[in-house]
Amino acid sequence: MAANCKAGVTHGVSHQSDPAPINTLTDRRKQRSSVRVVVSSREQKFDIKQVKDMERVKEKTMLLLKRYIGPVKRAGLRLWWWLRRSGRCRKLQLQAGPKLLHLGCGRINAPGYTNVDIKAFSHIHYVHGVYPLGLFNAAEFDLVYVSHVLEHFSVADVPKVLGEWFRILKPEGVLRLGVPDFPTVVSIYSNTGDIRDISGVLMGGQTDSHNYHKSVFDEKHLSELLLEVGFCEVRRWDPDAVANHDFEDTTTNVWTIGGQDYAISLNMEAVK
Ligand SMILES: C[S@@+](CC[C@H](N)C(=O)[O-])C[C@H]1O[C@@H](n2cnc3c(N)ncnc32)[C@H](O)[C@@H]1O
Repeated sequence: MAANCKAGVTHGVSHQSDPAPINTLTDRRKQRSSVRVVVSSREQKFDIKQVKDMERVKEKTMLLLKRYIGPVKRAGLRLWWWLRRSGRCRKLQLQAGPKLLHLGCGRINAPGYTNVDIKAFSHIHYVHGVYPLGLFNAAEFDLVYVSHVLEHFSVADVPKVLGEWFRILKPEGVLRLGVPDFPTVVSIYSNTGDIRDISGVLMGGQTDSHNYHKSVFDEKHLSELLLEVGFCEVRRWDPDAVANHDFEDTTTNVWTIGGQDYAISLNMEAVK
């Protein structure tokens, strides 16, 4: 045996150098109930009684679970069948109302909407980019509402972004958009001749990397893009007239410059 090892200590299970004879049943039980494992000079004792107790608790828990899971499952199935038969499931679904998604909502917390924004305001359900949207299934929403976000994407990306918003809409679902109205921007500049009047609406606030505009739109161009993606009906919408728009946002903005009013938002919606 190596000189630095203590007498009677080996790598593995220790064997007492001179074990006492085991005479009685109790002695034998005691001997069996613990195994001393010695690794170098450190000792760890695993008490077999403790392990057996733990196993007994585990067995009892499993038995209890088996006894109660069956009846609970059966009761759940019965309830589901009764709800279906009585038409209450459909009623519950109808009461739940349309599924509304607000992409790039910013500070707006409109009731009934699922809110998504890259910035983590307290009312945001998903702090996430608005493209791509792998977190949502195809055909999940009745209304996808996006106000003044599409212009934050490059000319090359806009059709892909619209395609993704199309994907998550149910058939006959509506994509409701607001974007800066380029003809209005031109009109402001024509009247005032001051670049500062239009730089924000044209190029974004530029306060952070998500606040830059990369695309411009007018009614004709946006309609064509929406139809190319697969939408079947494109039209203008009015914030005061549509459902699910009981809030103020950029789509409702009217700027007064030099005594003249400019509605800077081009509001268009498309039906899937
Ligand atoms: C001009 S604000 C519009 C806010 C609001 N929708 C409105 O109309 O008043 C643009 C919003 O879109 C968010 N945003 C910009 N790019 C985004 C992106 N790629 N993914 C998610 N949110 C984005 C910004 O954080 C910001 O809240």
